Amino acid sequence: MGLVRRVSSQEAAGHTDYRLLSQRLGSDLLRKRISAQAGIWARKTHQGKGVFRIERVIPVNAVLRSVLWLLCVEELGRRNCLDIELVERDVVLPNLPEAFEGVRLLHLTDLHCDLQPELIDVLIELLGDIRYDAVVLTGDYHNRIGDDYDISLDLMARLIRTLQGPKFGVLGNHDFIEKVSFLESAGLPMLLNESASLEREGQRLWFCGIDDPSFFEAHDLRKAREDVPEGEISILLSHSPEPYREAAAAGYDLMLCGHTHGGQICLPGGRAILHNYSGPRWLVAGGWTQGRLQGYTSRGTGSCGVAARYYCRPEITVHTLRRA
Ligand SMILES: [Fe+2]
Repeated sequence: MGLVRRVSSQEAAGHTDYRLLSQRLGSDLLRKRISAQAGIWARKTHQGKGVFRIERVIPVNAVLRSVLWLLCVEELGRRNCLDIELVERDVVLPNLPEAFEGVRLLHLTDLHCDLQPELIDVLIELLGDIRYDAVVLTGDYHNRIGDDYDISLDLMARLIRTLQGPKFGVLGNHDFIEKVSFLESAGLPMLLNESASLEREGQRLWFCGIDDPSFFEAHDLRKAREDVPEGEISILLSHSPEPYREAAAAGYDLMLCGHTHGGQICLPGGRAILHNYSGPRWLVAGGWTQGRLQGYTSRGTGSCGVAARYYCRPEITVHTLRRA
């Protein structure tokens, strides 16, 4: 499977060329993102929406950890975070080029590497037994926003080295844009409101990636798709499912995302007690449709804030593309 256009910066790891990022992301959106990043770094505030805004006044994660410890379920929650489920699903795209029938896309998201570093070893071992043709990563490589990224970047570099085939990534709300050069140098091309295509036997499959739409709101769905010729299949990589209506209107065929962690702490049966985004509940986990757009929200491979999961297993997903 040939990679037709590899979108990758020519920066050295750790060097941020803002002029190049401005061209890739869009100058207004880069300015908006950097301004928001500066606010986070200076105040070290949480960026959640809705009920998660209470993190601005009380340390929710510390309180939650204490409650779980008092209830004697903290260790169980930690173990649950390492109990990764392999979710295999077929995606039927009637216009899929024949050459891509049966292509298997591995989808990883929300690794939050620094929260529970041992997750990466568990993941690497699990991936050794799984067959796939290409990999997509939909953001949140890091957990503690504004803090040192070194642990997360080292762990990501280890993981990326083990991944097979073409890879594409997008940024999440926990990722600062300065980390793009590290990830790309480690071998993960990032899509910053950009696209790239895979080619097989003269036929193409497009991957379009947007910047985080949940907090930084630096996404541009139309720019990300502008190189896709009429009638060709486009797969949107988005950290969050929030722009699902705009994605359907823009003509995408499939949208792969994460961000919600499936609620992470759920009731028996998997119903999320709380969720961290402003969209409807039917987008919190699993497959969904909006018009002719098909979408999938992963429960996430890692965990957010506190390494604890209940009735909501972490997942890696393999989407097998089918024509019928
Ligand atoms: Fe996340």
